[in-house]
Amino acid sequence: MGSPCIIGRKAWESLPKKPLPGRFNIIVTKNHKNFAFPNTGHSLAACESVEKAIGLGKQFTETGKVFVCGGNQIYSYCLSHDLIDRILVSEVDDDTAEGIHFPAFNWEGKTVREFPKFTVREYHRSSLLGKAYDEALSD
Ligand SMILES: NC(=O)c1ccc[n+]([C@@H]2O[C@H](COP(=O)([O-])OP(=O)(O)OC[C@H]3O[C@@H](n4cnc5c(N)ncnc54)[C@H](OP(=O)(O)O)[C@@H]3O)[C@@H](O)[C@H]2O)c1
Repeated sequence: MGSPCIIGRKAWESLPKKPLPGRFNIIVTKNHKNFAFPNTGHSLAACESVEKAIGLGKQFTETGKVFVCGGNQIYSYCLSHDLIDRILVSEVDDDTAEGIHFPAFNWEGKTVREFPKFTVREYHRSSLLGKAYDEALSD
């Protein structure tokens, strides 16, 4: 909470309540110039590329962290263009789920916390494994 979040236009539209509270929401859309912002009084922006959204988000974070909140197209773009270094995911044991899924990836990960119905796991690029991996997790 608090860090800027980047969200694809379709995931934005699917939010039952907009914006995601307590953080600067940055919507990625090719139609950024004509994007219709809801009149919520929250800080919102629209960018025409993921790279520009990350650059903008970095101007509004004290921790240096910018979060990407989906959907699949944005996750896939970030993975294929090496734009993210960490994935924090809630894994649910349900292989019947239909629709859009998180893109496949092959990073090393470890369990952060277990809940009765889901497990929180954190994945890092393998280049961060070892000492640097643990240091990265502790910050
Ligand atoms: N369960 C979860 O945690 C979770 C999280 C997030 C989303 N979701 C689900 O994911 C679904 C949406 O995912 P999605 O993959 O269909 O769409 P998406 O990634 O949310 O948004 C796709 C849109 O983002 C823009 N976009 C994507 N890549 C871009 C790029 N490289 N440069 C500029 N603009 C780009 C385009 O908007 P324009 O067409 O406007 O140009 C594109 O149509 C929703 O149904 C949502 O419910 C689930």
